[in-house]
Amino acid sequence: MGRSGGLVIENQSGPAHLSTDDPGPQTTVLSPGDSFIGRADENDQLDRLFSEVISGKGCVVMILGEPGIGKTRLTREMTARANSLGAATAWGQCRDIEGTPPYWPWIQAIRGLLDDRGTDFVSSLPRSVTGPLAALIPTLANVTADSHAAGNENLSQFQLLESFSQLLKIVANEAPLLVVLDDLHWADQASLGLLEYLAGEITSARIMVVGTARTVDPKIAGKLAASMAELARQPGFSRMKLGGMSREEIGRLIVGEADGVRGADSQTRFIRPPRGTRFSPSR
Ligand SMILES: Nc1ncnc2c1ncn2[C@@H]1O[C@H](COP(=O)(O)OP(=O)(O)O)[C@@H](O)[C@H]1O
Ligand SMILES: [Mg+2]
Repeated sequence: MGRSGGLVIENQSGPAHLSTDDPGPQTTVLSPGDSFIGRADENDQLDRLFSEVISGKGCVVMILGEPGIGKTRLTREMTARANSLGAATAWGQCRDIEGTPPYWPWIQAIRGLLDDRGTDFVSSLPRSVTGPLAALIPTLANVTADSHAAGNENLSQFQLLESFSQLLKIVANEAPLLVVLDDLHWADQASLGLLEYLAGEITSARIMVVGTARTVDPKIAGKLAASMAELARQPGFSRMKLGGMSREEIGRLIVGEADGVRGADSQTRFIRPPRGTRFSPSR
């Protein structure tokens, strides 16, 4: 197992403290913990928004914070809670890889939704929705009539955006829908454009889009910042800045992880969060 996902405990004397330095020679590497600690306010805020989504008031939420602060984990926990309420959930991961196709996180999310629903659902979709998306999502090309063939060059940007929007609304007619777009600081311009379009379209739909992004990435000052300025004009948009955990929460995280250590002895007292994790105390 690599160290990147683990909690590192060093056996040393001296007072317990957190460190972000590289592990020293006397270390025990633990498996990543399953237990989710703290973030009660953030969970409450997200759950409140989602309960409004269930009653037909859609929204877009942007979760911002430094790398490792817990953005992805917070949204994964929220996805699990939404699932347990019977919501439809989808995940799109932005990539910092050259050649990543436009709309990539949305394509991923929609592919997941279509896979979950199966071929009958796909066949039942209106051709006016599947046609414009067929070039991007091959599953939809199989059910697309000739007149809306994949790669239709006359397709307007509006038709494309509207097809994405309609498809998500069709899914949300069956069950409230949560779409998470992770690491939006790497998003392509088209994906951000669709997010902006949807923010204005979903205010009366059972759809919540949660995006995450790094505050420290220089790109945040560029196209994502411009996009967030656009999003901020929409009534259903909110942002959440994720800060460090409290000392008490860090303590619980450490205790929870240390409970799982096999062979850790009573000398174990120097504890480090996973590499890249920023559990800096906030209060
Ligand atoms: N509230 C939490 N409780 C327990 N572990 C957490 C919590 N928040 C983050 N972690 C863990 O810290 C690591 C980094 O968190 P992650 O969500 O990937 O950060 P980010 O997405 O902000 O870069 C992951 O191993 C994650 O499981
Ligand atoms: Mg992340």
